[in-house]
Amino acid sequence: MEEKLVLVTGGAGFIGTHTVVQLLKEGFRVSIIDNFDNSVKEALDRVKEVVGPALAAKIEFHFVDLRNKDDLDKVFAKSKFDGVIHFAGRKAVGESVEYPRRYFDNNLIGTINLYEVMAKYNCKKMVFSSSSTVYGQPEKVPCLEDTELKAMNPYGRTKLFLEEIARDISQAEPDWQIILLRYFNPVAAHESGKIGEDPKGIPNNLMPYIQQVAVGRLPELNVYGHDYPTRDGTAIRDYIHVMDLADGHIAALKKLFTPDFKGCVPYNLGTGRGTSVLEMVAAFEKASGKKIPMKLCPRRAGDATAVYAAVDKAAKELGWKAKYGIEEMCRDQWNWASKNPWGYQGKKA
Ligand code: WQD
Repeated sequence: MEEKLVLVTGGAGFIGTHTVVQLLKEGFRVSIIDNFDNSVKEALDRVKEVVGPALAAKIEFHFVDLRNKDDLDKVFAKSKFDGVIHFAGRKAVGESVEYPRRYFDNNLIGTINLYEVMAKYNCKKMVFSSSSTVYGQPEKVPCLEDTELKAMNPYGRTKLFLEEIARDISQAEPDWQIILLRYFNPVAAHESGKIGEDPKGIPNNLMPYIQQVAVGRLPELNVYGHDYPTRDGTAIRDYIHVMDLADGHIAALKKLFTPDFKGCVPYNLGTGRGTSVLEMVAAFEKASGKKIPMKLCPRRAGDATAVYAAVDKAAKELGWKAKYGIEEMCRDQWNWASKNPWGYQGKKA
């Protein structure tokens, strides 16, 4: 079978790099677009180390910003893509509240350009990186894909708008095949410890924050809220191993190549299990052997008590299920952290 060529936007990012590794292992050729707005070139060098020279030769890279439609057009003029996995976009909730225009510019304009250029070159298979954030503060859990959608912040609104845009395009042009993947809470890293999440500045998310406390970059973890109606008073989330997430993208991409797949369909990518903040800290302490000092703080605005996925639809229709549990997530997160305490860039002199 002729090797399929997949365009991965944001392929130098956390989930992008892990998905590129799995795509190459699955026999795809990969073209990556990234503007290094929230990632670094070193991450791509690491991907090549992970996959080895033979598969690394199947990676093409374009330093392109999706907001530059002419540059994007040049990439499509050069190669015939069988499908697109679209990660590129900013994804920090707090930052989006502070700089909403940056989020609408990056996430919306970039994606609209992508749809336009894909249509021009008749490439109409898209796996889109959506998020559990479109469930807002769900009244009921687990979150089913047909749960009512609402957004609580500009970042979440961009994801919700982009889902609606996908549905409208699919309605008007039925030859588009689009899968929306709603990630719950991505954590951990590739088993090699060569690639992982490397957020710029102080991490917003729990696991990279815990990681930086463990390696001594931050003094203590602020636990946002200990009066939630949960088993230990702290909030519950569905943490999912980034390798499970990567495999979920492969399963979605393969589904797009099946003739029976039609339209625009959302799938949850989660484990279906909830873990509290204190439970995650305890699991990380066990995996790392490090004590994580904590400070109990008031709840963070906009946080929900509990968010975790209903997982049957992805299992039934994509043949995908998360394989890893919290222990493996903490093991691999610590492996990445202990080998790269200062991320890809190393300690600033
Ligand atoms: C998890 C829990 C915090 C930091 C967001 C986005 C979602 C996805 C993942 C992109 C919460 C608590 C956190 C800290 C803490 N991103 N916490 N101390 O808010 O569930 O989801 O990131 O797709 O779309 O909405 O993730 O990791 O920020 O928080 O106590 O220093 O950890 O209050 O209960 P969240 P998170």
